[in-house]
Parts: sequence; structure tokens; C-alpha cells
Amino acid sequence: MANFRFLTAGESHGQCLTAIVEGIPAGLKINLDEINKDMARRQQGYGRGGRMKIETDKAEFLSGVRFGETMGDPVTIKVANRDWQNWTDRMSVMGEEYGDKVTAVRPGHADLTGVLKYDRDDARDILERASARETATRVAVGGLCKQLLKACGIEVVSHVVKIGGIGIDESAVDYSQIGQGSSELNCYDPAAEEKMKQRIHEAMVEGDTLGGVFEVIIRGVPLGLGSHIQWDKRLDGKLAWAMMGIQAIKGVEIGAGFKCGELPGSQIHDEMFYDEKHNVYRKTNRAGGLEGGMSNGEDIVVRACMKPIPTLMKPLHSVDIGSGEEVLACKERSDVCAVSAASVVGEAMAAIVIAEALTDKFGNDAMVDLLAAMQAYKARVQG
Ligand SMILES: Cc1cc2nc3c(=O)[nH]c(=O)nc-3n(C[C@H](O)[C@H](O)[C@H](O)COP(=O)(O)O)c2cc1C
Repeated sequence: MANFRFLTAGESHGQCLTAIVEGIPAGLKINLDEINKDMARRQQGYGRGGRMKIETDKAEFLSGVRFGETMGDPVTIKVANRDWQNWTDRMSVMGEEYGDKVTAVRPGHADLTGVLKYDRDDARDILERASARETATRVAVGGLCKQLLKACGIEVVSHVVKIGGIGIDESAVDYSQIGQGSSELNCYDPAAEEKMKQRIHEAMVEGDTLGGVFEVIIRGVPLGLGSHIQWDKRLDGKLAWAMMGIQAIKGVEIGAGFKCGELPGSQIHDEMFYDEKHNVYRKTNRAGGLEGGMSNGEDIVVRACMKPIPTLMKPLHSVDIGSGEEVLACKERSDVCAVSAASVVGEAMAAIVIAEALTDKFGNDAMVDLLAAMQAYKARVQG
């Protein structure tokens, strides 16, 4: 049985979203403001849809926390859907059927496969849960995990590196600002950010949508989280799974990623050096902080590619599942580009994976024991 797990529940226009998290040690002080800052960051970004103007997401703790501190119990978190007030008939739990069915299924969304698999005749029964509104709960869970990690000296940050084909100039990025600064697109190359916004504006005018790439950086991870001994213990695999588990993510890279298939070993592997201050150290981090499925003590660097949003205001050709006629796909209120929001979700998912790996290695009954175990281990491996 896993010692750390979480589940989310709730529909996009239902009353609320909830999450239950098990495995957070007792004695962790909760800073609700910090968690709600991430909730707000997930809602931001140039190119977001009208829904984000209705919601002001807040995480509300319902169990597992007393006087601002965890007790070791399962933690329940609720995120209210303000928009629910406008959907009480259409999303009624026990009432009569109400409202038009969604039948003009959208290419690239879960609609068609979902209605067939779950034997529904209204794609709303599918899209309500497939919607990335669900990621609000993941950001709340990730925010809780970030606080556990912070207490252990670990920080998780992210930034957007590409939108609609416009990429950052890495030499223009102030990496120390990532996680500190306030950027509308969570991008730290200001010139590239301006061009990205322009590109998003063009897509909006054209009724089109855009995807992109974000990068998550995890600093301060002790070496040896994850393991080489079994495929499902590898930390690189867990991180890739967690990123791919975010709606619309279609590719994940760790460190140099796909470049590893192009360059020779002499230009990929991080050579090792020694001095008394650092012990064994590396001058590069093309492995992205992971070797043999284990953290190696360097920053962990994961990139994820998000496809363009499937709901287009200039809808794509599709089929009505009720009549069988060829139609234009339905238009739900929608984002034009949500890569910056996805980057915040990526941070949350990375924090969840690292919290799981950390508590797996050092225990999760009490914070005091976890910290002591980690300190003793670090003293041993660092010499
Ligand atoms: C933060 C975020 C926001 C999203 N916003 C929308 C949206 O407004 N409209 C939409 O059609 N899809 C949106 N998506 C993408 C869909 O949720 C996703 O494409 C869909 O669930 C199908 O899953 P798949 O793309 O993984 O195949 C969003 C995804 C993320 C991560």
C-alpha cells in the first residue's frame, strides 16, 4: 500500500471540487496564503477564457489540519465553483434532466471517446470531468506538498519556454527570478513574452488556439530519491507520468531530453570533478538532475509540451452524435492558450511526486522524524 496518495473529485460546473490527500506527516504548519497564491497563479495568463473571471479559487481545508498544523490524518481540501450558481439546473445532482445535450463533439477533446466508452448520449457527462478545471484541486494538493518540501529545503518553480512556436532566448532569462517575479505568462524573457502575447492575440482574433512548452525546476532535492532497482521506482518515470497526467500534455523531456538522441555521449553526459569543498561535483546538468532513475543532487529539470486547446471559436469539422450529421464542433467558453496555467499545474504535480518520494524514503508519521532521518542520511552521503 502506497504511503502517500491523493484523489480528486468534482465536475467543472458542479458545486465544488475536492481532494483527499493521505501521507502528509503530522506537525507541518500550513500557510494557506501561500497555497492560495498558487491557486491564483493557475487562473492567470494572457489568453485565458471568461471562466477565470468568474472564479476566485481558494483552497479550504475540511479535515486533517488543526490550529494550522497537520495531524497525520487524511487532509480534505475543497475548492468551490462559483459558476455552480449558473448551472444548478443543468448540473443538478438529483433533479430532472434539463438543458440541451452537447452532441457536436470536439476533435481533440474527450467528448466522443468518452460518450462511447461510458454509454452516454450527452458529452456534458464527459467534458465536465475531462475539463482541466479539475487541476485547481491538484494545485491545492501540490501547494500543500510544496510546504512539506519547503520545510525540507526543497523548492519547486516553473517557467514558460515556448508558446505557439515562439521560444525564449535562454541567455536572456534571469533564472534567479523564476518563482519570484510576476510575469503574466510565467515567462522570464520579457522580449519573448511580448511576442508570445502578440501571437496569442492573433490566435484569439483568428478563433484559433495555441500550445507550448513549460519547464519545471526542482531545487534542493537530496540525492537518492527514486531507485534504479525496479521500473516503477524510477523517479524520472514518475515525474514523466505525473506531467503526462495533466490534461493536454503530449510530451515530456528530462534534462537535455530529445537532444540526447542527436548529440554524442561526449556532449551529453555531465563529467565529474572533485574538490574538497564540493566533494564529487559536475559543471553541467544535462541529465536534468536524474541518473539511474534517482535524483543525483542537481536541480531536477522537466519540460512538458502542451497541445493547443481543443475548443476553437472557429470550430473544427465534426459529427453530431445524436443525428449523425456532419457539423461544426461545439463551442464551450474556453481558453485560447493556457500554457502558463499548465506550468503552475506542472509545479504542483512535480511537488506531489517529490513529496511522495521524500516521504517514501524518510517516513511520514511526524515532521520531526522525517527531518531527522533526512539530516542523518545527508550527513552520510555527503561525507
Ligand atoms: C490549465 C489547462 C486549461 C485548459 N483549458 C481548456 C479550455 O479552456 N478548453 C478546452 O477545450 N481545453 C482546455 N484544456 C485542455 C483539455 O482539458 C484537454 O485537451 C482535454 O481534457 C482532452 O485531454 P487530452 O488533451 O489530454 O487528450 C486545458 C488544459 C489545461 C492543462
